[in-house]
This record gives sequence, C-alpha cells and structure tokens, in this order.
Amino acid sequence: MDFAMDPEMMPGLAEAAELARTARRVVVLSGAGLSAESGVPTFRDAQTGLWERYSPEQLATEDAYRADPELVWAWYQWRARLVRSCAPNAGHHAVAAWQRRLSGSPGAGTGHDAGPAGSRGTLTIATQNVDDLQERAGAEVMAHLHGSLFDYRCADCGEPATHDPGTATADTAGAGGPGSTPDLESLLRIAPPRCAVCGDGMLRPGIVWFGEMLPADALADTIAALEDCDLAVVIGTSATVQPAASLPYAALGAGAAVVEVNPEVTDFSTAATVSLRGLAGQVLPALVPAYDGHHGPFR
Ligand code: OAD
Repeated sequence: MDFAMDPEMMPGLAEAAELARTARRVVVLSGAGLSAESGVPTFRDAQTGLWERYSPEQLATEDAYRADPELVWAWYQWRARLVRSCAPNAGHHAVAAWQRRLSGSPGAGTGHDAGPAGSRGTLTIATQNVDDLQERAGAEVMAHLHGSLFDYRCADCGEPATHDPGTATADTAGAGGPGSTPDLESLLRIAPPRCAVCGDGMLRPGIVWFGEMLPADALADTIAALEDCDLAVVIGTSATVQPAASLPYAALGAGAAVVEVNPEVTDFSTAATVSLRGLAGQVLPALVPAYDGHHGPFR
C-alpha cells in the first residue's frame, strides 16, 4: 500500500493536506463509498448475484416491509452477514488514526499519529453507512444517521431487540440455517422473528428507510458539530439522499473548509473547497497529517 501519494499527482491534494494539517475541529461525513473498497456494494451500484433483480430503493421502505416482510428481512440479514465478512479498509483506518491523533488518545501511542503537544482537537464522525467498519477500525462514531444493520426493534411496539444475523457467507447461509443446502429462492425469504416483548409484532432492522425521519438527536448533533468545525471531509457519498446531502453546506455556511473525496463528480463537487477525485482508501491515508499507515490501536 502506497502511503506516499505524490501531492503533484492529484489536483487539490496539497491544498487539502494543508487544510487537514492545520484543522483542530474536524467532522467526517461518510457514505457508502468509504466501505466500497472493503467489498460492501454502494447503493448506486447495480446489485449482483442473489439480489440482482431488486433495487435498494424497492427494498428499503416501510411499505416494502409491510408488503413482504420475509423478503426485506432476508435482504437485511444477507447484508449484515456480508458486512461481517468484510474488513475495514485503509480509508477507515486513516480516519480512525486521525481521530486518535487529534484527541491525543492513548491509542495514538508515541509515534506519528500521536499529535504534537498543544495540537489537541476533535474529529467527529457522522455516517450514512449502516455498517460497523469504521468502529471496527477503532474509531468512535458519533452518529449513524441512517441507522445500523446490527440494531433491531419491534415493527409494532417499537421496543429495541437483539438478534444475531449469523456469520455464514452471504450466499450460502440457507434459510434452514448455516450448513444447510442453499436453496436460492428460500434465501430470498426469511420470516422475521417475533418481538419478545409484545409477542405480536415482528422485528425490523434499525435502519432509517426512505420516507422515515432521521434520528433527531443524531442529526442535531451532526449539524452542531459542522457549525463548529474548521474542516469537514465528505467521503464517498453521492450527495443525493436528503437531508444528509445538505449537511456539508452547514459547514460551508459557518465558514469552514470542506474537502470532498470521491472518484466521481457529485452535485456537491463544485461547492466543495477542494474536491479530490480518488478512492477513499488511497486518498485518506495521504490526507491525514503525518499518518504512517499504522492500523492497530496500540504500537
Ligand atoms: P451511494 O451509493 O449513493 O453513493 C456512493 C458514492 O461513493 C458515489 O458517489 C461513488 O462515486 C462513491 N464511491 C464509490 N467508490 C468509492 C471509493 N472507493 N472511495 C470514495 N468514494 C467512492 O451512497 P450514499 O451516498 O452513502 O440510504 O447513499 C446514501 C443513502 O442512499 C444510503 O445511506 C442509503 C441509500 O439508499 C438508506 O438506506 C436509507
């Protein structure tokens, strides 16, 4: 892995790296592109394999769940198992190291990602991602704006519930349980468990579906952090789903710089202070101040 990306090679990288070097209050806003290099498909990519005939927009709604709970439940169980089989990538690790460096946490150690004395600050992470890869890289995530694949609640009474989606490889986990012979059609329909509290309702994933409200506290905390930051970094989002797509403008409105990291041009690109055309796993290690590519929480 090449951490010495040449600033001459990527337009804007030197300017963005200087913004990153001097920033003390950083907010990272991440989307599906951050996890793409880990093997988690983005939402704008066509689905492949088992789920190729469905679009995420068809499955990620309450109407879809009410009409066919087994189908929607099976899709989320498949995605949860897929995420469990993936590992954080260099982009997640770079963000986690930057957070440790700014906070001066013990995990920053004494090497390069420990910030110099007097440089303490904060790096706040708000993500649209429903995976846990950023946490598994050792970072603290303040807000999962679209919920989590690993949270559940009753669709009727709303009580939180625990559920283990299993770890079997996504396309081989038969509805009859890990180890059973996969029957493709049966993989597409798995009955959601009943709620242990009310006994009547079925469990649903703790995801913010299209048409649902974002968690109010998480959204308010994210806006407050953006209005108080000196740099926001917007990573791997198509900037199409509201209200998340508007969040970078809160930082710009407060006078902060905003760096975008995305291989494609988005609706936000022209508004960004610097828009870096590249993959998160390659650009972020080059952006994070004095990052030497060290992944672990301790040296
Ligand atoms: P999208 O799938 O809409 O967009 C992914 C973005 O990541 C695109 O702009 C890609 O160009 C970019 N990208 C791809 N690979 C990348 C890489 N290696 N590094 C950096 N960027 C990369 O994902 P989101 O914007 O997160 O909502 O989607 C927003 C919401 O739409 C999701 O949270 C989900 C979805 O429907 C719900 O589930 C409610």
